[in-house]
Amino acid sequence: QEDVFKKLVSHCKEYGFVFPSSDIYDGLGAVYDYGQMGVELKNNIKKYWWDSMVLLHENIVGIDSAIFMHPTIWKASGHVDAFNDPLIDNKDSKKRYRADVLIEDQLAKYDEKINKEVAKAAKRFGESFDEAQFRSTNGRVLEHQAKRDALHTRFAKALNDGNLEELRQIIVDEEIVCPISGTKNWTEVRQFNLMFSTEMGSTADGSMKIYLRPETAQGIFVNYLNVQKTGRMKVPFGIAQIGKAFRNEIVARQFIFRMREFEQMEMQFFVKPGTELDWFKKWKEIRLKWHKALGFGDASYRYHDHDKLAHYANAATDIEFLMPFGFKEVEGIHSRTNFDLSQHEKFSGKSIKYFDPELNESYTPYVIETSIGVDRMFLSIMSAAYCEEQLENGESRVVLKLPAALAPVKLAVMPLVKKDGLPEKAREIIDDLKFHFHCQYDEKDSIGKRYRRQDAIGTPYCVTVDHQTLEDNCVTLRNRDTMQQERVAISELNNIIADRVSI
Ligand code: GAP
Repeated sequence: QEDVFKKLVSHCKEYGFVFPSSDIYDGLGAVYDYGQMGVELKNNIKKYWWDSMVLLHENIVGIDSAIFMHPTIWKASGHVDAFNDPLIDNKDSKKRYRADVLIEDQLAKYDEKINKEVAKAAKRFGESFDEAQFRSTNGRVLEHQAKRDALHTRFAKALNDGNLEELRQIIVDEEIVCPISGTKNWTEVRQFNLMFSTEMGSTADGSMKIYLRPETAQGIFVNYLNVQKTGRMKVPFGIAQIGKAFRNEIVARQFIFRMREFEQMEMQFFVKPGTELDWFKKWKEIRLKWHKALGFGDASYRYHDHDKLAHYANAATDIEFLMPFGFKEVEGIHSRTNFDLSQHEKFSGKSIKYFDPELNESYTPYVIETSIGVDRMFLSIMSAAYCEEQLENGESRVVLKLPAALAPVKLAVMPLVKKDGLPEKAREIIDDLKFHFHCQYDEKDSIGKRYRRQDAIGTPYCVTVDHQTLEDNCVTLRNRDTMQQERVAISELNNIIADRVSI
């Protein structure tokens, strides 16, 4: 799986999906640029989300709030005081780590040991892995399991209590070593705030420290009454937004999974107090359906309900996707109570209560939030779509089995040869279709090579223009996944493709 992931990362670069930022300067940690194919896929993901929220729900509207916001907003939201990661330095390598991630890696090592022992037992007794795991009478398995469980309990308690000294003690007791220096020479653990800050205004006039938003949600909270009044919205209603967010992540790894500059698609749904848990349940279901509709198979998704809730939440769950490096969070669904709105009311001194005309009373709505990272969604789609196939003729191909609606290019149009009027005919077809969907013209190399190139960027359909086309106005339409070809009339192309590339 590690291998597949590496291949995926280089595929993303080779075919113009994702480049390291500032590539010719050797990159900038955990910052990435989207290339000519990546930006199309990303825009299609955003459209798929936006349409499902704003087009399909009469009571959800969109906004686009600024990245810079009044600094007191981040005081009110709790980010200035509590948006922290626990950090620890190794004194020899001078490298900085997240203490919690070091411990999580240690837990993963125990899991690895347990799995190895189970696999050995399964082989010895001729059982399946699951059967061997179920029996798990092997002494070593039990020993590793006991150590793992004890570590997990201790770690969870330390996190819950915010006990930094205990986090350090766990690292010492587990004899965790720095991956660079190989030593156990650790500093104290201290909290590190994840928000980037900058100065607004010139210093002569008195400048103000402001933050780059670490989530888009606060732009929705502080605008909720503007939108409710001008849009004459009635509770329950939602506000959706897509935009950049910034976090000074210390552990930046796994490609675009954890970035310092990323994009979120968030929707805050404002409901009557007391109804929030019903709405939470509904949104949980709606969001999972949205993911599953892409057709990657239900087994790729699972919920992870949170036992430990943030102080403002009364329910929270993640939707996890099976990435090449295991099940990972792609989306969070949180019941945030009236915490954010009440805090903004307190810190701004302005009343932002909703007047309910049916009840003839004012209240602060409760909020259900659905929050998904565009880049993480992008990574999950790319890893599910990436496929290496062995063909019957002995050749192999790399194909991105992207849902057609998300594919960067929907149709490639190729003249069989670069002469006899075939290129002109191919251009004619594109000129007709390019207003309806993204087409690409390709005349270089053999047809086989051109098909491989289109497979690699996930183009669901290719059309070949041959000599017969000039006589019968028909072309060969090739399907990316089945590689089957059919002869269709040029006049039918628009209908056929449009029909097959919609969700
Ligand atoms: N407003 C709630 C909020 O921001 P979160 O769980 O911190 O909640 C929501 O983030 C989603 O944003 C995550 O599920 C993930 O998809 C994405 N996300 C968070 N941090 C990220 C990062 N450093 N890089 C890429 N995506 C990130």
